[in-house]
Amino acid sequence: MDRDSTEFDELDLETITPRQVRQYLKDKFVIVASNRGPVEFRKEEDGTIKAHRGAGGVVTAMSTALVATDAVWISSMRTKEDAKMAREAPGGRLAMPPDKPQYWVRYIIPEKKDFQQYYSVISNSILWPLQHYLYDVLRRPVIDESVHEAWNNGYRKVNRLFADEIVREIRSTDKKPLIFLQDYHLYLCAQYIRRKEPDVLIHHFTHCPWAQPDYFRMLPHGMRRELLQGMLGNDVLGFHTPHYVSNFLQCCREGEAVRAAVDTKRRLVRHGAHETYVRHYPISIDHEALERTAGRKDVADYRGRLRSLAGDRKLLVRVDRVEPSKNILRGLQGYEHFLCRYPDWKERVIFANFLYPSRSDLKEYRDLQRDIEEAAEAINREFGTEDWEPVHLEIKDNYPRSVAAQIEYDALLVNPVADGMNLVCKEGAVLNQRGGVIILSVNAGAYQEMRGTVLPLNPLDIAETADTIRSALQIGERKRKSMARSAREVVQANTSFKWFLQQMRALRRVEKQRAEGKKEKAGMPELPRYERFE
Ligand code: F6P
Repeated sequence: MDRDSTEFDELDLETITPRQVRQYLKDKFVIVASNRGPVEFRKEEDGTIKAHRGAGGVVTAMSTALVATDAVWISSMRTKEDAKMAREAPGGRLAMPPDKPQYWVRYIIPEKKDFQQYYSVISNSILWPLQHYLYDVLRRPVIDESVHEAWNNGYRKVNRLFADEIVREIRSTDKKPLIFLQDYHLYLCAQYIRRKEPDVLIHHFTHCPWAQPDYFRMLPHGMRRELLQGMLGNDVLGFHTPHYVSNFLQCCREGEAVRAAVDTKRRLVRHGAHETYVRHYPISIDHEALERTAGRKDVADYRGRLRSLAGDRKLLVRVDRVEPSKNILRGLQGYEHFLCRYPDWKERVIFANFLYPSRSDLKEYRDLQRDIEEAAEAINREFGTEDWEPVHLEIKDNYPRSVAAQIEYDALLVNPVADGMNLVCKEGAVLNQRGGVIILSVNAGAYQEMRGTVLPLNPLDIAETADTIRSALQIGERKRKSMARSAREVVQANTSFKWFLQQMRALRRVEKQRAEGKKEKAGMPELPRYERFE
């Protein structure tokens, strides 16, 4: 059989060609939806409107996976300029990239108040900390009327807006739609789409951890029920690791919020007449594109600046959003502890923190930024000398600077309290040119893949952080280089394109099964009772 006519779901992901993907997609229409899109327009000081790359892991992975798919990517507008650009674009679709379109961007435009309730209140203050085990249970969150109101009138409403836009896109063509929903902002979307388009194929991917059932139960019962029902409107649910899959299945199985039959062996959940497969595919990066970025002139300039900043001192680096789950303060405390405990390292190392401002509409994030600045200043006051600043801190949106830092580090500190995957360590592994060592929290999803090639860290343990920084900086050259090589090989074995292909393939399998009318219902476990309902 010629390779192009082999069934898509039987193709080997290692050898699949872009031509085969295009061939498969010929009569399909890929629709992606995520809260944050690949591009954000902002007005510059001279009055012109400039496009900026959207931040974060979803954008990094998806924008490279969608090359040559002619897909439509629906996201929420963030700036006035987004809305203006969308209004002026033919059919409301913006070409990406504008000169050589590979896919299209379309914005939904929610009311300001609805967006604030959906994004700041529910997504960022309730769901995000829930999924990262970040509730400060004695104090936060306080789930009062305003939170219920935000769920009822903000979260639901914006999910409906996304669903309506997706349905409009589905109905705009005869091609078969394949829908890929992203992350915790859009848990209700599949169910809303399915009410209008019952047979459409829908995949949802969760980019953060999925908490264990006891923790998940902290979310009010009604929200939990609606959230799981919404998710079970998908055909396939994707997570980064088998651990998150298992947590999700357990949340469904206990019959406390939804009555769903769970087949843990086949990782299949039946809710009413609908079946949902639950799978894991670790997200990755596009290392070839990253290597091209590394060769850019602006990156070279930043590398030069970094080298003159460090001189012949060792460079410990962190690159992160200003985000509680990233555990930036404990990174600084660990470093301070390291300087106290191992004074022979004074003046021989610089800890460069390259941070991105994040979610500054929330007080918690603003406070965190201030605490980070104060902690860095305190270390510099205590240990700094005339020609040595122990901590270098920059908080601004600067991608080439981050790439340069990942090329130049001697050690990279990645110590999140919890992280769905973490792409900084994967980017570092591919970019670094000094045989640098990665210190990686055992609570980052990436640790499952990278263990053995990194130094593991309990992110809460400051004493261990100090000792691990020291080990990373003084590991022998042979061991260091061999760890760096293995880390790079692990990361290079996966790409964001492959991550996306796995999802397309999972949907293809569902489609085939439906076409064959094969319902493997025999052997499904009994439905559990609701604990509180019926
Ligand atoms: O970690 C999952 C993720 O979707 C990232 O891609 C992104 O950095 C973050 O969550 C969401 O960030 P923001 O609220 O700034 O869009």
